[in-house]
Parts: sequence; C-alpha cells; structure tokens
Amino acid sequence: MNLEEVLNFRRAVRNYLPDTNLDTQKVKHCLEMATLAPSSSNMQLWEFYHITDKDLTQKMAHACLSQSAISTANQLVIFVTRRDLFRKHANQVLEFERGNITRNSPVERQQKRIKDRELYYGKLLPFLYARFFGLLGLFRKFLTETVSLFRPMFTNTSECDTRVVVHKSCALAAQTFMIAMANEGYDTCPVEGFDSRRVKKLLRLPHSAEINMLISCGFRNGNKGIWGERFRVPFEDVYKHL
Ligand SMILES: Cc1cc2nc3c(=O)[nH]c(=O)nc-3n(C[C@H](O)[C@H](O)[C@H](O)COP(=O)(O)O)c2cc1C
Repeated sequence: MNLEEVLNFRRAVRNYLPDTNLDTQKVKHCLEMATLAPSSSNMQLWEFYHITDKDLTQKMAHACLSQSAISTANQLVIFVTRRDLFRKHANQVLEFERGNITRNSPVERQQKRIKDRELYYGKLLPFLYARFFGLLGLFRKFLTETVSLFRPMFTNTSECDTRVVVHKSCALAAQTFMIAMANEGYDTCPVEGFDSRRVKKLLRLPHSAEINMLISCGFRNGNKGIWGERFRVPFEDVYKHL
C-alpha cells in the first residue's frame, strides 16, 4: 500500500475477529515507529502500555464502558502522558544536544549553541512545566501576557496549557502508531470513552500521569468491524487558502 492507500485502509474498527492474533513484535515495532512522531520541544512526555493479556483486556473493556472496540480487541495500547517527567526528559534532551552540537555544528558556533540549549532545557522548560495547584501557571500567564503587549511572546503558559501541549504531542504519537499498524494490514480504533480513574488504577499509574487514549488492535471482523461508510465534512469547509 502507498501512503494514501494506508490512510484509506485505516478505519475506526469496533469489532475484531476472535481468535486471530496479531504479531506482538510487529505491534511493538509500530510503537517504536510511533516514537518518531514530533513532540513539543522534543520532550516526548509519553508512555505506551501494550496489553496482550486477555484478562486485563476485559478489565479495560469494563473501564471503557464495555465498548466492543475494546472487548473484542486482540491487543490494546494505552497512550499515557507524563507531564511529571519533564525534568528527566529535559536533562536527557540537553545531554543529547551537547553531543549533537559538538558532532554537527561549526566549531565557532558550538559554545553559543550549547549555552542556548542549556538555557532552554535547563531553565526555561523547567519553569514552563513546573506546577503548583495552578498558581505557577497563573504567574507565568500574567508574565507572558504582559510581555506580549509589547512584543510577540509565547503565551500558552498556564498549567492547563502545558497539559494540552503534552496531550497534543502524545496524540501525534498515537496517530503515527495507527498509520504504522495500517501499513502492516492491522486494524485499530482510538478510544477516549473511558473511566480515566479506573484505567489508571488498572495500570497502577501515578496521580500525575494522564490517559491520552486507548487504541484497540486486531483484524476487522468483516462488515461488523466497520460502521458503514466514512463521513468527512466537505473539504471546502475546512480548507482555507490564504
Ligand atoms: C480522540 C479520539 C477518541 C475516540 N473515541 C472513540 C470511542 O471512545 N469509541 C469509539 O467507538 N470510537 C472512538 N473514536 C473513533 C472515531 O469515532 C472515528 O475515528 C471517527 O468516527 C472517524 O471514523 P474513521 O476513523 O473510520 O475515519 C475516537 C477517535 C478519536 C480521534
């Protein structure tokens, strides 16, 4: 399949063939490809929980309001955001960037570029991601909105905004995964109809982790797998050429 065929093949599948197993290693490889998705500041504040255990799948189905997209699935992947790991990931990116710059930048520019990265990943991002009951976000918002009165400024700085930022990036990884799966001829369905507290409990996640979406996986069960034709609002309604 070429890319267009893959994108046409991918449908939200709500009913999967029973007793037909996916290759777990291939699914895992699709998750490796999902990590190639872009993420804000390359922070990659996501985790993927790959479930092949039947009992756990049924428990997840219960937490997902007994949707057949989950209860009939052969495997599940749960995309989780980890805003709380910002320090660890910022340090990892910074460490990588030091080497990256040393290997790939002109010698005369290296010192300045490393200093810029140290400021960004060592100071700015930890300031942007830090949380304290919404108050730090309010302070950042006030600060950045004030500066933006005088010059262009990034103002999505509240604690709610950073939450959106990590979910946005995680969803890109989820979509990359679904495309990789479709490329293997594997079906998926993204699901956000779930009881978040119950799903987190089943995965034993810390309080600060959040469920981005569940993706069920399997082979579509003939006509039962897909709910008829695909609908999209007219392209002219969404395409704005300036
Ligand atoms: C974030 C997100 C959450 C979704 N949640 C559910 C869900 O809980 N249950 C479900 O059956 N489908 C769910 N869907 C699937 C959509 O209904 C489906 O993608 C849409 O109808 C378009 O159909 P298509 O994917 O076959 O093109 C979800 C899709 C997205 C992107």
